Amino acid sequence: MFKNSHLSYGWLAIALHWLSAIVIIGMFILGLWMVDLDFYNAWYKDAPHYHKSVGILLALLIAIRLVAKLMQISPQGVGKRWEQKTAKLVHLLLYLGLFSLFISGYLISTADDRGIDIFNWATVPSLGELFANQEDLAGEIHEWVAYSLIALVSLHALAALKHHFIDKDLTLKRMIKPINQKKDLS
Ligand code: HEM
Ligand code: HEM
Repeated sequence: MFKNSHLSYGWLAIALHWLSAIVIIGMFILGLWMVDLDFYNAWYKDAPHYHKSVGILLALLIAIRLVAKLMQISPQGVGKRWEQKTAKLVHLLLYLGLFSLFISGYLISTADDRGIDIFNWATVPSLGELFANQEDLAGEIHEWVAYSLIALVSLHALAALKHHFIDKDLTLKRMIKPINQKKDLS
């Protein structure tokens, strides 16, 4: 039940999936809100500080999630062949989008030689300005990738709901609670 089986995700993959989903959606809303704050707002400095601190922790969480994924089997796909292939491609793009956000976020934040403070516990060092116009260019990419990621997440969530309500299969159920072949399917 802790690890995945051929039939279902286990508690580890389920916990990591929903924890990262909540944090990613929160980061998107926080990002959109904080870039419009004016200098006199009380959150002007703190909001980016939290966005960056949580961003670094999220990068660690996603790294742990990938290691956990590679160290166990993945459940067999559900649905038609093209649906299974598209689902795999979307999952891959979600991970690639996240890594692009981590890298571009790092490049925006460290272009002025300052490291990234993680809640004032530790600092990720800066590598300085690695190319001209780094802050602006990385900022454009970060914004563009963040919007694309959320569009892809919406497609992913709609597909999950379609499996649940229209196809009435186990796709969403097994990402909410592990399915036990003997107990749940007899
Ligand atoms: C290591 C992780 C991350 C770091 C260091 C980081 C850093 C930053 C910084 C410094 C900005 C301000 C850019 C500016 O002033 O124009 C920003 C904006 C933003 N970030 Fe992140 N970020 C990270 C991860 C994420 C993630 C996972 C998301 C989720 C989708 C996200 C969504 C956004 C959004 C929507 C904006 C506003 C973009 C705009 O309208 O200009 N970020 N981020
Ligand atoms: C930021 C949000 C999200 C991200 C980044 C994300 C990412 C992923 C990834 C990468 C997988 C593949 C399994 C894995 O590698 O762990 C997956 C599976 C899954 N996700 Fe999400 N997800 C998000 C939100 C959601 C939401 C909102 C729903 C439902 C409404 C959902 C439903 C599912 C389901 C049902 C699976 C299993 C799919 C299958 O068995 O093929 N996810 N998700």
